[in-house]
Amino acid sequence: MTRRFEAPGYVPGMIPRARLLTALQGHVPDRTPIWLMRQAGRYLPGYRELRAKHGFWEVCRTPELSTRVALEPLARYPLDAAIVFSDILVIPEALGLGVSFGDGKGGEGPKIAKPLRSAEDLASWNREDLPERLGFLPRAVAHLRAAIGEDRGLLGFCGAPWTLLCYTVDGSSKDEFLGARCLLHTAPDLAHAALRELADIAGALLLAQVDAGADAVQIFDTWGGLLDREDYARFALPALQRLTAPIVARGVPVILYVRGGGHLLPLLGQSGVTCISLDWRTGFEEARKALAGSSVRALQGNLDPVRLFAGPEAARRATRAVLDEARAGTTPGLDGFVFNLGHGILPGTPPEAVAAVCEEVVRE
Ligand code: CP3
Repeated sequence: MTRRFEAPGYVPGMIPRARLLTALQGHVPDRTPIWLMRQAGRYLPGYRELRAKHGFWEVCRTPELSTRVALEPLARYPLDAAIVFSDILVIPEALGLGVSFGDGKGGEGPKIAKPLRSAEDLASWNREDLPERLGFLPRAVAHLRAAIGEDRGLLGFCGAPWTLLCYTVDGSSKDEFLGARCLLHTAPDLAHAALRELADIAGALLLAQVDAGADAVQIFDTWGGLLDREDYARFALPALQRLTAPIVARGVPVILYVRGGGHLLPLLGQSGVTCISLDWRTGFEEARKALAGSSVRALQGNLDPVRLFAGPEAARRATRAVLDEARAGTTPGLDGFVFNLGHGILPGTPPEAVAAVCEEVVRE
């Protein structure tokens, strides 16, 4: 086990932003940094009240509103980082595919009015003035940075090309994205072309968020685990490398979350990212073994979000178990650890359990 006071990069009493960045650079800070995937959103009363008055895209496109949503979890819990309030589907929406989410009560999933099925569909994407039309996202980052000040970490994000392709082809996840998975084999050239383009658009959007004040970025490959190793290596990985390279070249930490990606770990080590966010089914030891010697410097994760439904005490114990497991070994060059959930907080999660999880992490 790493002795904290002996670890490289150890600085006592760090500000949250330095704590997060120290861990993401592969070192061990004064205590484990924490933020939670989907930390702003439907489980919080302030978000639900705001959504009763404003549409989802309206919240995303109005920096005053998106900042208000992003600040609510920071006001409630001792989190080391804010994440800009937005969605991975801003890209298909900006391409003119017509993305909608229903009434915000959940359960319906997204809907895509103009799904990608053919080369003609790809040609019809609206590429005009994309950076301007997506400009609300860097503006939201800048607005949030001004609101949180310089001491707290700030994360930007986007969807991975493969996960974006899933929604672009199928709209919702109800058939496990059968359309997107079939497209890889029925029209591989079309799939590659779409993945390349999604990678370039997402990459530009991440750089714009960094320029606006994000300290690090996270790429969500929520549906990466649907692919076998061969298809991930052939389709998802090259697009991911294309997306990641310019950001890593700028020295910005890049976190990659792949839900159900345990079987893909050796490939994820080739993606170029500096941190892998594990889901609740993938162990830290397994990940360290698979990622040793790669560009990955830190691991993030991986408390099962359903553990928060069993009451604050059970959530606290489960948090302790994750902290212990995450620190139970060292791998030179891969000693960074950021506490997080193994997937986003679920709507209906009791806010007291979120408080218990945070308390347990910051108690050290
Ligand atoms: O603090 C935060 O983390 C909130 C910012 C955020 C949202 N979406 C807001 C949102 C983030 C980081 C996301 C990422 C996202 N969006 C992912 C990857 C993370 C994951 O959970 O796997 C994915 C797959 C999506 C796509 C998406 N957006 C879906 C499937 C849905 C509908 C159902 C759902 O899970 O909420 C959305 C809409 C959405 N994005 C909501 C929020 C708060 C709810 C929309 C509403 O209020 O109507």
